[in-house]
Amino acid sequence: MPLKAVILIGGPQKGTRFRPLSFEVPKPLFPVAGVPMVQHHIEACAKVPGLKEILLMGFYQPNEALSRFLVSAQQEFKIPIRYLQEYAALGTGGGIYHFRDQILAGGAEAFFVLNADVCSEFPLQEMLEFRQQHGDVHSFVILGTTANRTQALNYGCIVANADTQEVQHYVEKPSTFVSEIINCGIYLFTPAIFQHIGEVFQRNQQELALEESSNGWQRAEVIRLEQDVFTALAGRGKLYVYKTDGFWSQIKSAGSAIYASRLYLNQYSKSHPERLAQNKPGGPVIRGNVYIHPTASIDSTAVGGSSPLHSPLLHSRITPVSSIPLWAGTAQSGAGPGLKEHRATPTPMIPMPRSTARPFSGMGASHHPSQSWAAVSPSLLRLLFSTPSSFLTRS
Ligand code: GDD
Repeated sequence: MPLKAVILIGGPQKGTRFRPLSFEVPKPLFPVAGVPMVQHHIEACAKVPGLKEILLMGFYQPNEALSRFLVSAQQEFKIPIRYLQEYAALGTGGGIYHFRDQILAGGAEAFFVLNADVCSEFPLQEMLEFRQQHGDVHSFVILGTTANRTQALNYGCIVANADTQEVQHYVEKPSTFVSEIINCGIYLFTPAIFQHIGEVFQRNQQELALEESSNGWQRAEVIRLEQDVFTALAGRGKLYVYKTDGFWSQIKSAGSAIYASRLYLNQYSKSHPERLAQNKPGGPVIRGNVYIHPTASIDSTAVGGSSPLHSPLLHSRITPVSSIPLWAGTAQSGAGPGLKEHRATPTPMIPMPRSTARPFSGMGASHHPSQSWAAVSPSLLRLLFSTPSSFLTRS
């Protein structure tokens, strides 16, 4: 079955919570566990048999960093990858509707849509199999996971039939508890989704026609998949939730990027052992899953350490020394640094802000990063705390 994938990368005015890190590189290209954030998505899509093309969709102006990344990712994963630029922020549903001909070109019978700012095991093959067993040929699948009652309020919340997994009720970021099953921002659609998005577009057009506005047509194209489409589809036998036990987390802030790096690093021991640093005679001591950027130079006296439950992360782009991010790691119950930089300046340790990590590993409480620490350079620390609201809170 010909398949495609769309990765929603948003644009420059989004991602303010990601400052100051997004000043250096667009958020979708920010390195997580050593590779650009969206490379994890691309790699997962490229593994799906029959997946013909990956479309990055957003409202960034095309830029050199993005172009270079696309060229190298196409070569590495041997799959066509294109960037489609929205003329304005069209929302999570407006862009895919606007570019529906491009998505369906080549006879795609189904396509994935993935939010760029999530880290996940991306159980795409499992979603395909799940779809074959649930609903009819036109049904759609949302990837779901479980959150606690408080955290769930920050996400799309799904009430599903326990036997059929059909979505009966969908509420985006509810103000009171609705369900502990949350939307992971990863979907499997068939072309039939465009009929439903088209209905929203037409309704928007009619409403806007009543208003005197020169850009009514453009505004009608701004469509949110979650509030405008899923809410209406719930309870109509068309929308299903595939619940994953695999790891999943949002990447909305600097702190949550560190947490996401750790989840991917844990996965590397199976998927990419070659990316993990090895102990070598006379070299730095490596304990646990550690990534070292090829341009980093690590002093032989450095130590990366961790408790058995918390694998460390030694993610470094330390040329020049002030670049970010530098190092992140874990320590047991705050018992001093788990790793050490080779520079003379002592590395401050800051607790990872819980409010921004938003972890759901499906693996139990031991994976919550409450005991995690991030060791960062003094320059990063200054930057982080110069914008405390964007770093510590979520609007
Ligand atoms: N192309 C494009 N155009 N992408 C967009 C646009 C747009 O106008 N607006 C947002 N995005 C991208 C963002 O870059 C991000 O990857 C994704 O769409 C979702 O962004 P938000 O609109 O900020 O939603 P959210 O992250 O708060 O919530 C969404 O994701 C959660 C899971 O992480 C919702 O889908 C929630 O229901 C879900 O739980």
